[in-house]
Amino acid sequence: MTKTIFLLNGPNLNLLGKRQPDIYGRDTLDDVEANCRALLPEGYDLRMLQSNHEGQLIDWIHEAREAACGIVMNPGAYTHTSVAILDALNAFEGPMIEIHISNVHKRESFRHHSYVSLRADGVIAGLGIEGYEAAVRRILTLTRD
Ligand code: DQA
Repeated sequence: MTKTIFLLNGPNLNLLGKRQPDIYGRDTLDDVEANCRALLPEGYDLRMLQSNHEGQLIDWIHEAREAACGIVMNPGAYTHTSVAILDALNAFEGPMIEIHISNVHKRESFRHHSYVSLRADGVIAGLGIEGYEAAVRRILTLTRD
């Protein structure tokens, strides 16, 4: 059976490549998806999802309980605010990697705390969009038979 990795992206990441390119770069989420897909061995698939709405992200995390072998998530600003997303991730049993394109620790102090890190099996920050590939590689390592 095909193993599916969910790549979840939170608010404003639909503008990746257009907003604040000095911080987030010029690549888009489509580029991220193509780069990650290129890493998948046979038997794996991925679902790239993005929403600006907390409830939608939570619904996808619930869906992942049945449909995903692992989650890579960039929760955007919800990282720093959302206990509800943390609770949803705590209900997911597979591996979960948190990724941030920018180095949040080099930025404003409100970005230094992450609720999601309380659940994440790994945290990546500041590698640009390459961080998504590192996260997918880690999920592959953790879920290969
Ligand atoms: C981000 C960092 C967050 O603080 C910010 O709110 C984002 C993007 C990142 O990928 O660097 O939207 O998660």
